[in-house]
Amino acid sequence: MIQEKHIESTIKELFGNLKFTAEPAGLYDPLRYMMEIGGKRIRPRLCLSTYSLYKDSFSDEILSPAAALEVFHSFTLIHDDIMDKAPVRRGVPTVYKKWDENTAILSGDVMSIESYKLIAKAPVQALPEALGLFSKTAAEVCEGQQYDMDFENMESVPMEDYLKMIGLKTAVLIACSAKMGALIAGASAEHCELLYKFGYDLGLAFQIADDWLDTYGDVKVFGKAIGGDILNNKKTWLLTRAFEKAGDLRADLLAAMDIPVTTDEHKAAKIEAVKGIYDALEIGSEAQQEIARLHAQALGYVSQLNLAPEAEAILHNYASALIGRNK
Ligand code: IPE
Ligand code: IPE
Ligand code: MG
Ligand code: MG
Ligand code: MG
Repeated sequence: MIQEKHIESTIKELFGNLKFTAEPAGLYDPLRYMMEIGGKRIRPRLCLSTYSLYKDSFSDEILSPAAALEVFHSFTLIHDDIMDKAPVRRGVPTVYKKWDENTAILSGDVMSIESYKLIAKAPVQALPEALGLFSKTAAEVCEGQQYDMDFENMESVPMEDYLKMIGLKTAVLIACSAKMGALIAGASAEHCELLYKFGYDLGLAFQIADDWLDTYGDVKVFGKAIGGDILNNKKTWLLTRAFEKAGDLRADLLAAMDIPVTTDEHKAAKIEAVKGIYDALEIGSEAQQEIARLHAQALGYVSQLNLAPEAEAILHNYASALIGRNK
């Protein structure tokens, strides 16, 4: 088993050393910009964590695939910010704002290819399965992103559809990260599946937390503009649950969603109005309960792994940090 603090130092070193092609700068600078600012790096951390349960040291066989997960994730963010008209990410201007949309599209494309170059370095005995898992996940993320956009034009969606959408856009990549580490370490198929399910439920909780932070977070810590989901009429957990509970407030909620977002004053008024209804319905605290429920469900899969206590602690600590986040 590998010690937890060694996972942290390995992550730092891995992303400190990652090199990409220099030219043309217009293509590769945005990629470097995203990778150097760096986010929380939860996906490679999870991949290294599950690998560490079965192995005694890290080597290139796992470092490159772990990096692939982060490069792929960062690529989806570049395109997501165009789709969501988001001005700020990780506390700095988004790629399409700092450069332009065409640059963001093409840099995103090459980044997705870079992620394939890295996953292809998985050890040969695990390569077919690793590549299959990665490709399936990548397509599912696109499917989820399409549902996310389709839903913007709908008044509301059933909770079941919301969960399917976030399962695709967010949970599968976290599930894939958990499984990838185990797969490359040579864990049993049963362990790989349990870790996939652990990652999936954590991923659902993670997206619900992201939805909560988009309304209730602190912009300086969160690193993204607050209220963007409300302005885009995104079908978040908060809005989906609000429609379930609205009763007499349904007309008010629809009216708030209809406030135009043409000026800064209108934008602030719309965020205020929707948030006021969430507060009246106590949606924020319900979201926290749902996050806690999914967290507990995820840990249920961990207990089925029958790990040694110190190995189990790695996954428990990872899950707590993920769920307790404020950014
Ligand atoms: C943002 O992911 C997109 C979601 C799936 C909510 P992260 O919250 O992991 O973003 P970074 O990588 O830390 O910036
Ligand atoms: C993120 O959903 C899902 C993907 C990027 C695939 P969001 O649109 O909520 O993510 P943020 O809030 O912009 O990070
Ligand atoms: Mg989005
Ligand atoms: Mg977004
Ligand atoms: Mg979000």
